[in-house]
Amino acid sequence: MEVKKVAVIGGGTMGNGIAHVFAMNSIPVNLIETKQEFADRALSTIEKNLNRMVKKEKITDGEKVSTLDSIEVFLDVEEGVKDVDLVIEAVPENYDIKKSVFEKIDKAAPGHAILASNTSSISITKLAAITSRPEKCIGMHFFNPVPVMKLVEVVRGLETDDETYEATEAAAKLLAKVPVPVNDSPGFVSNRVLMPMINEAIFCVGEGVATPEHVDEVMKLGMAHPMGPLRLADFIGLDVCLDILKVLYDGFKDPKYRPAPLLVQMVDAGKLGNKTGEGFYSYD
Ligand SMILES: NC(=O)c1ccc[n+]([C@@H]2O[C@H](COP(=O)([O-])OP(=O)(O)OC[C@H]3O[C@@H](n4cnc5c(N)ncnc54)[C@H](O)[C@@H]3O)[C@@H](O)[C@H]2O)c1
Repeated sequence: MEVKKVAVIGGGTMGNGIAHVFAMNSIPVNLIETKQEFADRALSTIEKNLNRMVKKEKITDGEKVSTLDSIEVFLDVEEGVKDVDLVIEAVPENYDIKKSVFEKIDKAAPGHAILASNTSSISITKLAAITSRPEKCIGMHFFNPVPVMKLVEVVRGLETDDETYEATEAAAKLLAKVPVPVNDSPGFVSNRVLMPMINEAIFCVGEGVATPEHVDEVMKLGMAHPMGPLRLADFIGLDVCLDILKVLYDGFKDPKYRPAPLLVQMVDAGKLGNKTGEGFYSYD
């Protein structure tokens, strides 16, 4: 099955980036939001990012205009998914919100359509079980910022069939992304490997082994990481890191995933990283 039109549900950090890359690759996008002001914010972010690409001469002004023209906004999920081949859900990381979205899209999307989630940690198998087409459900895990990052983890749920996997993989390649197949498991591969490293870095700070700056310097200079784990944790959001560690801890029942006490304290204190202006570092 060839993906000729997509719907992206949620135009936040990830959703606007996903809409951007599909539209830029000549695939029309129905962008679905809950309010016009959120949709406007998503469109203005996409336009700002396209302007930056024009300035760097990565795309022409004409390509910018045709990309924006390929995105149509909907404030009604049922309306927005009824003529697409692939739906990508990018609403907040909350099972109840995703459940209500999956119920709606399963009813309203065409029978052949693939239902994908950009979830970072919720089980694809569990989301698929909400629908009447678990074999057509899959994880399409993009990375932030979507227009820049090459990786898409393509997550197979228990019942995902080969046709769905292959069509999703082909769609990712069409975006010039690199799809990597993984099976459904807490944190998939990306967060299962990344979050324990971030957590251990936070233990080092909490136990007075080194300052955040020094932990990051060790990982940048010694391990050639472009960004240290604590700077990255601030960028991701410390609340998001804590939520993902809880998913790993609950999913595996293994104490190696227990969140560092300092991480819990910082989240309790509202120091969530870049988005609140303070985390392991201060931001203007
Ligand atoms: N932020 C990241 O770095 C990152 C990376 C990979 C995956 N993810 C995953 O992507 C998903 C989205 O994360 P985000 O950071 O973009 O969140 P976000 O909060 O920035 O955006 C979510 C958007 O969904 C909209 N929304 C909420 N309910 C809706 C509904 N019923 N219908 C339509 N729109 C609705 C909100 O208005 C908001 O604009 C989550 O599952 C998250 O785990 C996030």
